[in-house]
Amino acid sequence: MEEKIHIREHIALTLLEPGDKPNLVRYLNDPVLYRNTLRIPSPYTEADAEKWVNDMREAYEKQGFMSNWSIRHAEHGVIGGIGSFLLMGVEGHLDEIGYWMAEPFRGQGIMTNVVQVLCEWLFENRPALVRIEAKVHSYNPTSVRVLEKAGFEREGYMRKAALKNGELFDLILMARLRE
Ligand SMILES: CC(C)(COP(=O)(O)OP(=O)(O)OC[C@H]1O[C@@H](n2cnc3c(N)ncnc32)[C@H](O)[C@@H]1OP(=O)(O)O)[C@@H](O)C(=O)NCCC(=O)NCCS
Repeated sequence: MEEKIHIREHIALTLLEPGDKPNLVRYLNDPVLYRNTLRIPSPYTEADAEKWVNDMREAYEKQGFMSNWSIRHAEHGVIGGIGSFLLMGVEGHLDEIGYWMAEPFRGQGIMTNVVQVLCEWLFENRPALVRIEAKVHSYNPTSVRVLEKAGFEREGYMRKAALKNGELFDLILMARLRE
């Protein structure tokens, strides 16, 4: 189902649109964002944005339900993104989320709101889902804080769990369960 998920005044989660590409290139070329995530290329080119928008729209058409959303500001367009990885498919009991927020919009509580609302939406729309995980680099307390505020608990410390550019990183395992 394609749905617009309301987050707060001016902000909603929607499917990515081809017109979002300039914002993706503008905001995803950010060293902080690159350092704190595992899948975002650097430098982030127009071709990366083109592929991302096409892949996400194709995935939506194929699956018939959404698993990746742009965080859209009514005036500024796309300012971030969030996705569930469908670790065990849409009928699975377990999933994981990942997200990013554009630098000018950080620190306003937007991502906390997004994570809270999306988790509630996922539990409501996926009856088999009981557990949502997020894995955060050990040096990213901001993201741990966002997850704590959105009802996640810290469950563990995963030593050398991430490999990027030949370097190993520790991750913090956070999870929220269906109430
Ligand atoms: C992590 C990220 C998504 C947060 O988005 P955001 O919209 O700024 O988050 P919020 O404003 O909702 O909340 C940030 C919280 O972190 C806190 N915070 C900020 N810096 C912090 C620090 N160094 N240590 C601890 N907490 C910190 C803020 O005070 C705030 O908590 P509060 O409301 O209790 O004061 C954003 O910074 C980002 O996109 N970073 C780069 C990519 C990334 O890290 N993605 C997540 C990968 S797991």
